[in-house]
Amino acid sequence: MIKDIVLFEIEEWAQQKLSDCEAGHDWWHIIRVRNNAKLIHKREGGDWNVILLAVLLHDIADTKFFDEVESLMLIDQKLQEYQIDQTTIDHVIKIIQNLSFSKQWTENSFSSLELQVVQDADRLDAIGAVGIARAFSYGGHKGRDFYNPDISPQEYRSQEEYRSSNSPTINHFYEKLLLLKDKMNTKTGSSMAKERHRFMERYLEQFFNEWGSNDEE
Ligand code: ADP
Ligand code: NI
Repeated sequence: MIKDIVLFEIEEWAQQKLSDCEAGHDWWHIIRVRNNAKLIHKREGGDWNVILLAVLLHDIADTKFFDEVESLMLIDQKLQEYQIDQTTIDHVIKIIQNLSFSKQWTENSFSSLELQVVQDADRLDAIGAVGIARAFSYGGHKGRDFYNPDISPQEYRSQEEYRSSNSPTINHFYEKLLLLKDKMNTKTGSSMAKERHRFMERYLEQFFNEWGSNDEE
């Protein structure tokens, strides 16, 4: 068991690290992912301490905002300071390293129930009504168009290509968000994803109805 005071201090540290991130990757994202993880863990099991620490710390090593190697070292040090056992620390770090959608192009052999739970919890926050808000927040942060009918969704072949893409936010739905429901790891995560997925489909239908025809007559 990790003491409440230790978890509280780790939480404070993580919150402070994320204080400059854009709205879709702020502390509220972590709170929502923790809530999702709690629900999934209740049904699917796994070591809650490992899941919780990975949820709290996962975005500190996000390559979109931070240097991954440096952040993972900091996390390792921080957890050692609180005398968390090294097996737990190593597991948490492995989860963080393998969590991201953008890691699908990197070879990796690590898997665990805890990784599956955290990944599902994080992915659920990328879809549905909140997922839509996050996508437009991130797109705005990057100065991207929200839609451009002349640019089609792409299939990326590497993390670099995915990260450096400047495609409009609506394309991100086809490049990632609509693919997530079939990539969920757990039964619970998969059933939670269904309604959020349907909501995005309804949203896109409405979006294209409002956008109307592209013909300039
Ligand atoms: P992961 O968190 O698995 O690393 P990403 O880094 O691809 O996944 O994206 C995290 C979230 O950031 C997405 O769910 C989305 O809200 C937002 N995001 C990332 N890339 C884009 C993009 N090109 N357009 C709009 N939103 C994006
Ligand atoms: Ni996240």
